Amino acid sequence: MRSVQVRRFGDPDGLEVVEVAEPAPGEDQVLVATEATGVGGVDAVIRRGTIGGLGFSPGFVPGSEVAGTVVSVGAGVDPTWVGRRVWAFTGTGGGYTERALARLEDVVPLPEGLGAVAAVTLGSAVPVARFALAHGHAAPGGSVLVRGAAGSLGIAAVELAVRAGAAAVAVTTSSPARGERLRALGATHVLDRRGAGDGPAAYDLVVDVVGGPDLPDFLDRLAPNGRHVLVGVVGGMPPADFGARLLAAFRQSRSFSTFSLDTVARADLRAARAEALDAAARGELHAVVHDVLPLEAAAQAHRRMDEGSVFGRIVLVP
Ligand SMILES: NC(=O)c1ccc[n+]([C@@H]2O[C@H](COP(=O)([O-])OP(=O)(O)OC[C@H]3O[C@@H](n4cnc5c(N)ncnc54)[C@H](OP(=O)(O)O)[C@@H]3O)[C@@H](O)[C@H]2O)c1
Repeated sequence: MRSVQVRRFGDPDGLEVVEVAEPAPGEDQVLVATEATGVGGVDAVIRRGTIGGLGFSPGFVPGSEVAGTVVSVGAGVDPTWVGRRVWAFTGTGGGYTERALARLEDVVPLPEGLGAVAAVTLGSAVPVARFALAHGHAAPGGSVLVRGAAGSLGIAAVELAVRAGAAAVAVTTSSPARGERLRALGATHVLDRRGAGDGPAAYDLVVDVVGGPDLPDFLDRLAPNGRHVLVGVVGGMPPADFGARLLAAFRQSRSFSTFSLDTVARADLRAARAEALDAAARGELHAVVHDVLPLEAAAQAHRRMDEGSVFGRIVLVP
């Protein structure tokens, strides 16, 4: 079977399609014949190899979510799973491949009417956005800023914040055209990447996909008791002394936190994934698909990610 591996960390040319043996599912695992696999921002972050300490080595298969049909199951898994169409989280890596392994607890049946491409656009992004908003105590009537809103995670955060009754949902993005697309998805204010533009003076909650050197400037934008929740670092790591900005505003009772799905109970996560896919099947959430490309075009997909031209998600189909 064909898999895409990072042969060399750095530019997208380090991604290569290789022929590898089909794996056998282990205990409590299923093997999925991949119909679609999502290209997430984290895949590009890992491939660039610019953030140290992540511990990945050449041969790493990027991608973390697939949708397709279960073709075999390991010990301890009910064999009636074989033949079912599912969405599956493969872990950090293991997605860009024709046959993907996943633990049964990370597998959700695909609801009727939801395609594989839409499923891998929403299956991870919506739960991350949902739990991050909850972690940041998003409340009806509050003001939310989604930083890095033009990716699948940010788009999900915008749609969910609007649905949860936020009074203002501001976004940062790199162009007015992208801003218009985010307005069509419910954003009320569009700011540039630095946060300049016409928006609320202060935010109750910032959901931040970007991190990077500008993060401290956004801590300054928090309202009293405001929360900044960092869910991604597509812009790199923030400066080491960023906490000084919170301390400088000591009397504002602001808080900063990371948020990772790793801290969500597996049963809650599974339920949230199923709910996300059901909501998508009902048309309540939008799968914003930038492009659908063959598996062989993984390097091209990553090049587009690096150029910053992607709005929503690129999906690879073997
Ligand atoms: N916390 C968790 O449990 C969890 C789970 C899964 C994934 N993640 C994280 O989520 C992130 C990926 O999300 P995604 O796929 O939605 O992101 P993405 O598509 O890679 O990026 C989102 C947007 O951020 C903006 N951006 C990119 N580089 C930037 C920079 N240097 N400065 C400012 N803005 C920049 C771009 O929009 P504009 O050009 O319009 O500005 C881009 O479209 C990864 O960091 C991943 O680790 C977290």
